[in-house]
Amino acid sequence: MRKPLVAGNWKMNSPDESSKTLLENILHDSKMLDSILKEQENASAIDIALFPPSVFLREAQEILTGSNLHWGTQNVSAYDEGPYTGEISASMIKNFGCDYVLIGHSERRCLYEKLELDQFVLDQIVAEKYTMATRHGLSPIICIGETAEDYEAGKTEEVIARLLDVLIKHQGAKALSQTVLAYEPVWAIGTGKSATPEWAQEVHAFMRERVAQSDTETAESLRIIYGGSVKKENARAIFAKPDVDGGLIGGASLDVDQFIKICFAAALKEAG
Ligand code: PGA
Repeated sequence: MRKPLVAGNWKMNSPDESSKTLLENILHDSKMLDSILKEQENASAIDIALFPPSVFLREAQEILTGSNLHWGTQNVSAYDEGPYTGEISASMIKNFGCDYVLIGHSERRCLYEKLELDQFVLDQIVAEKYTMATRHGLSPIICIGETAEDYEAGKTEEVIARLLDVLIKHQGAKALSQTVLAYEPVWAIGTGKSATPEWAQEVHAFMRERVAQSDTETAESLRIIYGGSVKKENARAIFAKPDVDGGLIGGASLDVDQFIKICFAAALKEAG
């Protein structure tokens, strides 16, 4: 069985309380959740990862080291070092004790889109970052999803297949076993309008099938998480779908109560 993952993407938000307090509160409540889960017969273990802005990584490392929680960055450079102002390399990220890194989030893709880069070129950049992350022992969470325009035009599968094919071409399908894929329809991010559980399932199944065409074993073990307006109210229904292995949570990850309840929903996945 695939271990569900709940990832909290803080984006460039400063928490209402200090970042230190938010990290401490999440840690505290996640420990309480752990003890509740131990008592619960139909609950399974989950992974939780936090993605604060990089300036808070030192705090994350100090507070979370030795706990069950993981942490990571919201981006990584495709290069090892050099004149790339504002970028952070995979080895620097590793030095902060990170396990995970987000790659290809649509809010970052937009920056490149302004440069009018072709989508295929954007996928290549994502693939280069993916290669760099895995080379340094980081687990990438690679985001992909269609815009509202693509959705209306029925191009969801085309958009997703294009990136998956590029990733497989870069490192082979086996390498994806160290990776998490995040299906994030752009129209659902931060809009309050999440995909239906049925739609998420359909797209996740398509993604798994696409990887299975190259490697069935990797496809079976690959974690595919859903992101886009996940809240405590809709998490359970979305995570209950067989090909949804947890979530990438934006806004709700800044609210401890919301976030921990979403983690709880992931732990109850097998209970349906
Ligand atoms: P949201 O963001 O949960 O606020 O919609 C998800 C994401 O951008 O990863």
